[in-house]
Amino acid sequence: MSSCPALPDGFDFTDPDVYEQRVPLPEFALLRETAPVWWNPQPPGTGGFEDDGYWVVTRHADVKEVSTHPEIYSSNLNTAVIRFADYMKREQIEVQRLIMLNMDPPEHTRVRGIVQRGFTPRAIRALEEALRARATRIVEGAKERGTGDFVTDIAVELPLQAIAELIGVPQEDRARIFDWSNKMVAYDDPEYAITEKVGTDSAAELIGYAMTMAEARKECPAKDIVSRLVAAEGEGNLSSDEFGFFVILLAVAGNETTRNAISHGMHAFLTHPEQWELFKRERPETTAEEIVRWATPVVSFQRTATQDTELGGRKIKAGQRVGLFYSSANNDPEIFDSPEVFDITRDPNPHLGFGGGGPHFCLGKNLAVVEINLIFNAIADALPDISLEGPDPRRLRSAWINGIKELRVNYG
Ligand code: HEM
Repeated sequence: MSSCPALPDGFDFTDPDVYEQRVPLPEFALLRETAPVWWNPQPPGTGGFEDDGYWVVTRHADVKEVSTHPEIYSSNLNTAVIRFADYMKREQIEVQRLIMLNMDPPEHTRVRGIVQRGFTPRAIRALEEALRARATRIVEGAKERGTGDFVTDIAVELPLQAIAELIGVPQEDRARIFDWSNKMVAYDDPEYAITEKVGTDSAAELIGYAMTMAEARKECPAKDIVSRLVAAEGEGNLSSDEFGFFVILLAVAGNETTRNAISHGMHAFLTHPEQWELFKRERPETTAEEIVRWATPVVSFQRTATQDTELGGRKIKAGQRVGLFYSSANNDPEIFDSPEVFDITRDPNPHLGFGGGGPHFCLGKNLAVVEINLIFNAIADALPDISLEGPDPRRLRSAWINGIKELRVNYG
């Protein structure tokens, strides 16, 4: 195995302590230039598995290559978090496999074929009016406060409401759903004080809630996505359990991601005032994609090699884990002119923030783009003079989600 001598000894691309300070962009740049597919030894005591390391894939082209070849790079051995801590034990992998993110074709193809009915452009358009009204209300609520934390006042709320709206959760149940969702995704940062047990209990409660919803719609179909996914029995529909796990995935995949795109987007505007002025004036349609590239809310996902293969000139052995570092791919100068520049008119913008284009490409992309557009339009209309207040944003301690925990602002 090679080592990259210029990296500090023992540097680990999945060390949450690093990400609490910054995304390691200079280190990614170094790898892209010198060792674009690099073997990262797993520091002792950080793995729930017996593996001794994982491959760090840093170039845009290689991340795409892996993403689009599920027969060589499987999702079946868990995709989400590369550094397995205690919360990810081997027996949990079986449960994880019930989530489509961790399925391979043909099973993945069947489930994806069903659930994407709920995410057609038409289905998303149908949510837009309700979400626009929500975005306006959220922003106006913040304005009344004068100053505050942008993350809790604004960024958190719309993604939660969007998922609730999508699956038709009644108003009176939303607080419970939001509480479970937040507890489930907050495992990585001790400050959130969420234990593994709280996370698993919340997931169980949410699955139970979703399954009950599915059963009720089978009895009595309504005009909502749940009915469309589960109502009729048979091949072309989800079972109630499958629906339960799908809702879990939505709660994880659709919340922190969009929340952090919005928080990073706001921070980028506040630190690039000329881009904020441009946005207020022209509202470029290219804005949301640049925010996602710039933020890259999901730092990485992983795959496992099913066979001996080669990538970027390196020999990958069957069974080895391969980390796709979207944060690096989205700053690859082979693809992006001046990737270090936040430019809301960037076009084309073939970023990999929503994945590398294979079968698992983000199902919620259209919804996420609508949410980002709605919230920044609402902010530009109601809070045009929003400004930074206080210290630098506080970052989430996570090597998986590029997160902001707190961003103090003056709403103007
Ligand atoms: C998958 C990013 C918003 C639902 C993914 C993947 C990424 C991603 C990187 C994995 C792609 C791959 O493995 O190739 C993001 C980002 C978002 C966002 C950056 C916001 C800015 C959403 C929303 C939803 C959603 C709003 C739904 C409400 C999903 C689902 C998958 C997924 C269901 C799994 C798809 C599959 O396995 O076939 N997303 N996502 N995402 N995302 Fe998103």
